[in-house]
Amino acid sequence: MKLPPFQLDRFFDGREQTRFNVAGSVCNQRTVNAILSLEPDAWERLLNLELEYQAYSGHPHLKAAIADIYGTPIKSANIMVSTGSQEGIFALLHTLLEQGDRVIVQKPCYQQLAQIAESLGCEVISWGMSEDEVWKVDLDFLATQAIEGTKLIVINSPHNPTGFQFTQQEFNAVIEIARKQGIYLLSDEVFRFLEPNDSDHLPAAAEVYERAISVSDMSKTYGMPGARVGWLVTQDLKVLTEALTFKDYLTITGNAVGQFLSTIALRHYQIFIETNRLLLSENLDYFYAFMKRNPNRVAWAPPRAGTTAFIRYCDGTDTDELAENLYTKSGVLVAPSSKFNYGHHHIRIGYGSPTFKEAMQVFEDYLMS
Ligand SMILES: Cc1ncc(COP(=O)(O)O)c(C=O)c1O
Repeated sequence: MKLPPFQLDRFFDGREQTRFNVAGSVCNQRTVNAILSLEPDAWERLLNLELEYQAYSGHPHLKAAIADIYGTPIKSANIMVSTGSQEGIFALLHTLLEQGDRVIVQKPCYQQLAQIAESLGCEVISWGMSEDEVWKVDLDFLATQAIEGTKLIVINSPHNPTGFQFTQQEFNAVIEIARKQGIYLLSDEVFRFLEPNDSDHLPAAAEVYERAISVSDMSKTYGMPGARVGWLVTQDLKVLTEALTFKDYLTITGNAVGQFLSTIALRHYQIFIETNRLLLSENLDYFYAFMKRNPNRVAWAPPRAGTTAFIRYCDGTDTDELAENLYTKSGVLVAPSSKFNYGHHHIRIGYGSPTFKEAMQVFEDYLMS
């Protein structure tokens, strides 16, 4: 299988270290020191960590910590740890899909979620979201397209890049549509828990639908992308075993240090969620004020959850050019919508960074100039 360039990563390459990076989607990136200070003997344990091959489906301590953030019926046996969720998604799609399979993908999306099915020669149906007062999905469209023989539906909520989140009712409807035809559901939940309140929090798809595979990671909600730890969760043990078989040909096992740090972090996951929700809420207030101050230049359907917003340029500015100029002249990095195959008039802005306000001030100066 030949894959085209991963557009977002090619765009980021060499620019990630800029002082004003609001292009990414990580929330509140952590240091090794911050993770180790969560437990008194963690330094000592890290220094003595054996750099051996790890258990194939993930270190048992890590799997137990992951299982603890899910409800019944998820247990360690339902989990496969991968090298970032990227590897889990790659393994899963290769085991589930074959050329000609019908796959429905929520769009716009993180490129991988549609690209692999496309490159495998599947029939990919775009389930496009519309931009109104808020981002919306059309459930009637999904119900009509999810015909007998459809293999897979791919969703992402909280959503990258728009900040959309399904309501409980919409989420139930998606699951009912999938269940009616026995369609697998890949639910990308890497931003799960980054909803403003507990009341907005949805169950994981794998908790409530027997043919769902939930995907998550340490990169976004826990601010640890460099740990390169992600996972698949499903009640369908056949699917999990097949994904594991595929993974044997990729990284064999996950890395020891990343799994060690992730285990500590997840044992204290409530701390991450509380601090991150607070940071996102403060940054979002600032973001609303920014949008209000610049109504002739930018507009948006505001985000409901997650760490990113997809804002629109009102005057038809080409956002590829804008992103290049902004980066070159001010050192502010934003992600243009072409990297999500969504035209040239939006930019994705991540508001999960502690330096968000500072970066947006520089962005605003640029807008005024
Ligand atoms: C929606 C979504 N899924 C998956 C990934 C893959 O991330 P990782 O491999 O770090 O888990 C990303 C990264 O940006 C993403 O935005």
